Amino acid sequence: MTDADFPVHDIATIPGDGVGPEVVAAARRVVDAAGERFGFRVAWSEYVAGGIAIDTFGVPIRDDDLAACGRADAILFGAVGGPRWSDPHAPVRPEQAIFALRGGFELYANLRPVRVLPALASSSPVRPELLTGVDLLIVRELTGGLYFADRREPSGPDGSRTAMDTLPYSEPEIERIVRLAFDLARTRRSRVTQVDKANVLATSRLWRTVTDDVARDYPDVTLNHQLVDSCAMLLVRRPADFDVIVTENLFGDILSDEAAVLAGSLGVLPSASLGTRRTEHGLFGMYEPIHGSAPDIAGRDIANPIGTILSAAMLLRTSLGHDAAATAVEASVEQALAEGWRTADLADPDDPRDGLVVVGTTAFATAVIEALGTGAGVAA
Ligand code: IPM
Ligand code: MG
Repeated sequence: MTDADFPVHDIATIPGDGVGPEVVAAARRVVDAAGERFGFRVAWSEYVAGGIAIDTFGVPIRDDDLAACGRADAILFGAVGGPRWSDPHAPVRPEQAIFALRGGFELYANLRPVRVLPALASSSPVRPELLTGVDLLIVRELTGGLYFADRREPSGPDGSRTAMDTLPYSEPEIERIVRLAFDLARTRRSRVTQVDKANVLATSRLWRTVTDDVARDYPDVTLNHQLVDSCAMLLVRRPADFDVIVTENLFGDILSDEAAVLAGSLGVLPSASLGTRRTEHGLFGMYEPIHGSAPDIAGRDIANPIGTILSAAMLLRTSLGHDAAATAVEASVEQALAEGWRTADLADPDDPRDGLVVVGTTAFATAVIEALGTGAGVAA
């Protein structure tokens, strides 16, 4: 096979603000290395969004850039935001870029896998014996509920102002995400926990009814309904019991940050946001680490690139159909950790262990690329 026969994939990158550009650059190098090894090439493009777009163009993302992102095979997103743009009352805010992408491309399914990488179990504040076997997937509804519905900003006379948010869900919106959760559960441990507040909210009662209907098509999958408050508690008490958690937008936002603590560092967790558009090789989606822009450490080459590298692995698998390459990237991250490479967020100064080497963003990515080169995760 000559180079010219390699499939070429279009990936749009949105590096964004803070550490976003550094972690995206690291993940790009890993994807290029995977392409060399597995026989594909990536035509990268880059778009400006977030605080930097507000400073440069006055908008969180330009319409033409949004449209161009939608024509790519997938989007790799860094992070947006920072103290300069953090006034929640400002008319233009960096997060509006995220909502434009999620809403504009109907990326209704947000997948947030949480695994405790063996090398990192001691980095979690949760007791190690509770972490054995933790491997859960949060399936968060991403384009409905409180995030995209009618609201009324504070108004009225001082001292008696009122404001309002609304939480609507329709049956089709619930059904498509719940079905996806059941499909994904079948590829895992076949357990679905549907999380809501059905003792209070009408939409939660609809979630339960629709989920029960969907469950009839999946007799091989075990379904539990759980109230969100009790789920929040069980996530730290018995995290290994969970397989797939499916829930509405705001509950998923909150529970996924809580679950992230299990993994030892926000910096290691990936995510995928998927819609319905199929490309030649898979499903169009946007992939991003779940950490934020971390402005306090930006520009110093110390951010942890693992969340973005693992997001890129999800991109390879789901949007580009390169399953073997994705698995190899994931195994290479584990190998780099097993070899002792750590970014600063994962190195506990009070627990200096032999063989741990603290490196920067770029050097960690290089360790992953070297592990890829030695064949980590490649079936013999
Ligand atoms: C997330 C983030 C966003 C959200 C913010 C930045 C608007 O917290 O992706 O979880 O709430 O969805
Ligand atoms: Mg969040």
